[in-house]
Amino acid sequence: MSTAEVRQRFTSHFADNPTLPHTVVPSASLLLDDPNLLFVNAGMVPFKPYFLGQESAPFQRATSVQKCIRTPDIEDVGKTTRHGTFFEMCGNFSFGDYFKEGAITLAWELVTKSIADGGFGFDESVLYPSVLDGDDEAVHFWKKITGLPDDRIVRLPPKENYWSMGVPGPGGPSSEILIDRGPEYGADRDWDAGDRYLEFWNLVFMQDELSAVRSKSDFDIAGQLPKKNIDTGMGLERVAYLLQGKHNMYETDVMFPVIEKAMALTGRAYGADHGDDVRFRVVADHVRSSLMLINDGVTPGNEGRGYVLRRLMRRAIRSMRLLGCEDRVLPELMPVSRDKMGETYTELHRNWERISTVAFAEEDAFRQTLKSGSQIFDMAAGEVKRAGGTVLDGAKAFQLHDTYGFPIDLTLEMAAEQGLAVDEDGFRRLMSEQRQRAKDDARAKKSAHRDAAAYREIADSIGRKVDFTGYDTTTDEGTVRGLIGVDGVVTSASEGDEIELVLDRTPFYAEGGGQLADTGLIELGNGARLEVLDVQSPITGLISHRVRVVSGEVTPGLGAHAVVDLGRRLAISRAHTATHMVHKAFREALGETATQAGSENAPGRFRFDFSATGAVPTSVMADVEATVNAVILDDLAVQAEYMSQKEAVASGAMALFGEKYGDVVRVVSVGDWARELCGGTHTASSGRLGVIKLLGESSIGSGVRRVEALVGTDAYQFLAREHVLVAQLSEALKARPEELPERVNDLVERLRGAEKEIERVRTAQLLSSAGSIAEAAVDVDGVAVVAARAAGAAAGDVRTLATDVRARFTDRAAVVVLIGDGDGKVSVVTATNEQARARGLSANALLRELAPVVGGRGGGKDDLAQGGGSDASRIDEALALVLALVPGLVAKA
Ligand code: ALA
Repeated sequence: MSTAEVRQRFTSHFADNPTLPHTVVPSASLLLDDPNLLFVNAGMVPFKPYFLGQESAPFQRATSVQKCIRTPDIEDVGKTTRHGTFFEMCGNFSFGDYFKEGAITLAWELVTKSIADGGFGFDESVLYPSVLDGDDEAVHFWKKITGLPDDRIVRLPPKENYWSMGVPGPGGPSSEILIDRGPEYGADRDWDAGDRYLEFWNLVFMQDELSAVRSKSDFDIAGQLPKKNIDTGMGLERVAYLLQGKHNMYETDVMFPVIEKAMALTGRAYGADHGDDVRFRVVADHVRSSLMLINDGVTPGNEGRGYVLRRLMRRAIRSMRLLGCEDRVLPELMPVSRDKMGETYTELHRNWERISTVAFAEEDAFRQTLKSGSQIFDMAAGEVKRAGGTVLDGAKAFQLHDTYGFPIDLTLEMAAEQGLAVDEDGFRRLMSEQRQRAKDDARAKKSAHRDAAAYREIADSIGRKVDFTGYDTTTDEGTVRGLIGVDGVVTSASEGDEIELVLDRTPFYAEGGGQLADTGLIELGNGARLEVLDVQSPITGLISHRVRVVSGEVTPGLGAHAVVDLGRRLAISRAHTATHMVHKAFREALGETATQAGSENAPGRFRFDFSATGAVPTSVMADVEATVNAVILDDLAVQAEYMSQKEAVASGAMALFGEKYGDVVRVVSVGDWARELCGGTHTASSGRLGVIKLLGESSIGSGVRRVEALVGTDAYQFLAREHVLVAQLSEALKARPEELPERVNDLVERLRGAEKEIERVRTAQLLSSAGSIAEAAVDVDGVAVVAARAAGAAAGDVRTLATDVRARFTDRAAVVVLIGDGDGKVSVVTATNEQARARGLSANALLRELAPVVGGRGGGKDDLAQGGGSDASRIDEALALVLALVPGLVAKA
């Protein structure tokens, strides 16, 4: 049975159920706006607010096939055959409707119904339901519904059969359906062994709200959810491979074509060698995950989601290398995955240009990294061999990994080729030290981020979303509904305290969608005054102001008069509207691939990141700027409308990422020209922007360009400043503005010529003084000693002069010491001729005594030595020392 068929049978089993029809909900984006989750990791995530009772569910029952990413297991992908990073979870959900009995009945029907009748046709005799130990109710229903004997119902501890999101939120006892794959996969009734009793469907009796989750078996239940719900997850890939008679998820009709392509590219066979098989699976999994992540708007980067994507892509590419393919691989592999996944996710074809731009650029960048890493490796390997060693030390391997992104398995492989071993233990120790540092860092960040429980407590006490009134007004009246200090909810704050404050309604915009937060003032009913420093939305529907109490006492319940800093807000809104316009203009100029990958809208300035293969030509920058300024003059009305996501897409709005089905979305339009899904604040019309100025563009990582720009007063001031600058230059150079570039070029040329000439004259002058310097030699024990200052001469000249002076003594021993003070440095040069050296005088020995006097170091040979210093005030002292030193040095000989 094809994967598509499994999906379709699942969906219709629930959608077409005569007594309990379910609403079919399309998959949400992998990136939902949940601060606790990097990616959607279960089918229930988009429904979380319904389970928690934060929003009322628009349906009592739903079914979905949700795209998911789980990343804690990246290292295990392919090694065990159960882990994939991207997978699809088939789920049925009840929001206060059916509970345990209904969920078990529905699941069992589908699983055991014959294939001819539309089911999956699993044989009852190999199925084992599991329940949370002590959940007698679940045991009762399993026996009643399936007729299975008691000993076929497996009781397991919370670690196995209590499900939560791994973070605070909803949770509950769960019940899984395990399939016995036979003794070749493990021992009888060894539930933990993994591969023998494979779990493929998890039914969660979602009834608790968790306030903290420390591990799978260590969590705090804060209370019961408002209703008893059902959340289930059936692994699409698992059921598909079981029904296709395959061994694992990588061998299904959807995944295997990528492995086949990889076999063709590498000339190696799947199934021949365990190590190779792991690599093939990594390739199949990671190529697909990368495809789906980029499709949903992630771009490779060095932190958060971008970093996960980068790791996945690099692992896929290097696995191909280890399989022997050194060419570009993504242009070959990704289209195979696209064609298979595109049967369900048709947007993959529409987005392909953007996806491939991002993916291929990242591969090129990584290839470059590998190239430089290889050079470093070769050097290190060469050193080890020259020193007669056989082991590359752990620190080197770590440096290659850490600094050059050079994976350890490649290092191992390349070392082996050169007959070297690698100190893997040393490498792993350094890696684990680094991991520990990262963990400590994350922990520090997390506690700074505060426990979401405090926010949830306040959100619950309000019982609804905080009203954001800032689209229509910048001053408003509300009530203080909660205060949060460093350790959680507090009941009061006083002058000087910095706390977070929640109102039931607020005109303050919380940072989001690339737009910076508002700042301003809040005055309370008792006269207290608060300065608003920042505004965030830490959990959906809650707006929290970070405030400093300027004066008075703050307690919940007080009335609040909130006043947003209007000038700042207007300047931010101008930037946000300008970003939409620049986005549109870039798409017109460069095509659909120039999709926004990030932005920041600050007062009067903005930056806009988008996908592009290379630098944006100056002419395009100029065109975009001209287009946007023309639209500003057209003074198009800027309007925000609410509509369903479907209507928004139909109206031509650029859908950004992270929306979920059923959401009412806000669409912001600039006339008929630019239309985008957006929650930000904007100007009333394009004319209010005044003027925009693009400052420049640069690369911020593979395939992503960043444009920085100014708008409104800031753009005007920038242009005005430039104008004044040009006027000043024009005045100073006595040239018209348009003549300036040529004039400056001309000046630079002449200056260069003049500098060369001065240099020549100076050197000539200096050398001409060689004669008089030599004449001033003093005789010390039959040695001619020259110790002189070369005023204004820099190191090179001092050296030339010193050798020149030395050359003038042919018939007797001579020591020459010259100290120059050019270029802001002290340069000491000592020179001896052959006769002097014969008497034991060494230029190097002399220099070592002299350099420290002028605060420096240096060295050289017996005939010539050179050093630098910094203390020009002691040059005379150093020169005097020469005469004192020579007799001693001669005597020693
Ligand atoms: N939410 C449950 C899971 O992910 C069904 O296993």
